[in-house]
Amino acid sequence: MAASELAPVMLVAGGTGSVGAEVAREAAAQGWRVIVQGRDAAKLSELVARLGAPADFVVGDVAQPDAAQTIVAAAAAKFGRIDAVIDCVSTGPREGRLTGLFKDTTPEHYAAFYDLSAAWFQRLAHAAYPHLAERGGTLVGFISDAGKFAAPRQTIVGAARAAEIGFVRNLAVEAARDGIRVHAIAPSYVLESRTAALMGSERMETAAKRAGLGLPTAADIAPMTVFLCGPGAAKITGQIISVNGGLNA
Ligand SMILES: NC(=O)c1ccc[n+]([C@@H]2O[C@H](COP(=O)([O-])OP(=O)(O)OC[C@H]3O[C@@H](n4cnc5c(N)ncnc54)[C@H](OP(=O)(O)O)[C@@H]3O)[C@@H](O)[C@H]2O)c1
Repeated sequence: MAASELAPVMLVAGGTGSVGAEVAREAAAQGWRVIVQGRDAAKLSELVARLGAPADFVVGDVAQPDAAQTIVAAAAAKFGRIDAVIDCVSTGPREGRLTGLFKDTTPEHYAAFYDLSAAWFQRLAHAAYPHLAERGGTLVGFISDAGKFAAPRQTIVGAARAAEIGFVRNLAVEAARDGIRVHAIAPSYVLESRTAALMGSERMETAAKRAGLGLPTAADIAPMTVFLCGPGAAKITGQIISVNGGLNA
C-alpha cells in the first residue's frame, strides 16, 4: 500500500511508549498515515521524524477532562479522517499499591486506576466512534493477560483488564452494524519495554523460562495490531488476542 492522500489514517494513543512506537513504525512501513499521541511534544516530534511516512502528532494527557474528545478531534483534523485507533496508553499503576497481594493494595487508588485504564478506553472509543463509522474502521485496545488468566498479585489490574474485555466483546457485536471492528491485544511480558525494566531482570527471566516460543518484543506485537486494522481482517471482530510467546494459553 503506498502512503498517499488516499492511504488510511491510524491514531496511536500512547505512541511514545514501547509498544505504541513500534505499532506506529509498522503501520507507517505498511503505508498507513500515522498520528501518534503522547504527553511530550519533543518525544513525539522525534518519533514522527523517524517514521518516514506522512505522520503527525497530538499532545494530550488522558487524565485531563475531555481528553478523549480533544485528542480525537485534533487527530481527525490532521488528515481529515481516522480509520484505526490503537490505545497503547499505560497509565498505571503509578500511585499507591495496585499490584502485589490483594490484602496489601490501597483501596483509595482503585477508582483512579479504573478511570485511567478501562474508562479511558471507553471514552476514547466513544469519541472515535463517528470517525471509525465513516469508512468502517478498527479500534484496538491494549490490555494484559492478567484480564484473561488468573495469577496471584494481579487482582486489581486483572479486574480492570477484564472490564475492558467485556467492553470490547459487547461493543464489537453492536458496532459491527456500523462497519466498525473492535479488538484487544493482551501482552504478558514484553522484552525491552519500559515495564520490563520496572519488573526487573529476575522476574523477566522466570517468565522467559515459561514461554516456550520466547517472550515477545514490541516488534513481535506490532504486525498483529496492524493486520487487525487491514483488509485481511475485514470479517474478524471482538477478539482478545494474547501475544505472549506461549506463556499462557
Ligand atoms: N510492556 C509490558 O510488559 C506490558 C505487559 C502487559 C500489558 N501491557 C500493556 O500494553 C500497553 C502498552 O504498554 P507499553 O509497554 O508500550 O507502555 P509504556 O512504554 O509505559 O508506554 C505508555 C504510553 O502511555 C503514555 N501515557 C502514560 N500516561 C499518560 C497520560 N496520563 N496521558 C497520556 N499518555 C500517557 C506514555 O506517554 P509518555 O511517553 O508521555 O510517558 C506512553 O506513550 C499498555 O496498555 C500496557 O498496560 C504492557
